[in-house]
Amino acid sequence: MRRPEVVGTVADLLERLDAARAAGASVGFVPTMGYLHQGHASLIDAAVAADDLTVVSIFVNPLQFVPGEDLADYPRDLDADLARCGEHGADLVFHPTAAEVYPEGTDEPVAVGAIGGSLEGASRPTHFDGVATVVARLFRIVGRCRAYFGEKDFQQLAVVHRMVADLELPVEVMGCPIVRESDGLALSSRNIYLEPDERRQAPVLYRALLSGVAAVEGGGVDPVAVVGAMEAVLADAPDLAVDYAALVESDTFAVPERIATGSEVRLLVAGRLGRARLIDNVGATAP
Ligand code: PAJ
Repeated sequence: MRRPEVVGTVADLLERLDAARAAGASVGFVPTMGYLHQGHASLIDAAVAADDLTVVSIFVNPLQFVPGEDLADYPRDLDADLARCGEHGADLVFHPTAAEVYPEGTDEPVAVGAIGGSLEGASRPTHFDGVATVVARLFRIVGRCRAYFGEKDFQQLAVVHRMVADLELPVEVMGCPIVRESDGLALSSRNIYLEPDERRQAPVLYRALLSGVAAVEGGGVDPVAVVGAMEAVLADAPDLAVDYAALVESDTFAVPERIATGSEVRLLVAGRLGRARLIDNVGATAP
């Protein structure tokens, strides 16, 4: 099996990118924090299918962890990650140190606007500023590319779309569908924190989302009622501490007063099961 080339410095990465671009190659970029699973692999597959050179970054970004979160224990397995990158045809893995990404004297935090203020942004203050700061730095380093993100982190995807437009970065952001286990649980690096009994309860998030979709597609127009239907399902899991259940307009993240005919909405849930904080979402179109 082919192993991707691993580079640890910006200088080495730029050398490879310059050479590829000089030969006319398009660049696909998949930013990750490692401990890769099939969800990450689906992004690599999309990049490999559309672009000539696929670069995966693996960097656990300290800035996006809120104090008290799992930065120190965030799971890592570089060997398995490189094998997975190779199996899926990635060409280059950028695995920098924090000093390489944030060299001494660098001070250019990116602040996220309203789109990052609610839901995940309310539960994890400073999280999206940390995401936007690292993604902006990575985009500046990688330069013109298509960048692949999962809808799993739907609000992150919206934040990144918005940042690319605001900063006029030469990046085409590609949103990719959520990869799930057969029982509906969205794949996540943090699922390894789940104890067996918690793992059995975890698919309740997806079931709640499906009940919300049914309510919207059945003609429900009151967002409060749709959220109530989701909360009723979430209550089935005795150990789930619900963080939020929400319905927003897909493009603005605003909460509508009434679900307009034909509008695209997004249903989102988050909660803690034991040590794992889980998030999930689905889209629905009002009839
Ligand atoms: P990470 O959690 O490693 O996720 C990297 C990418 O994989 C994100 O775009 C995420 O949405 C996507 N992903 C995760 N689980 C998925 C699933 N089940 N199906 C489809 N895609 C999935 O998100 C981050 O890292 C970081 O915030 C990052 C953008 C790298 C910035 O540090």
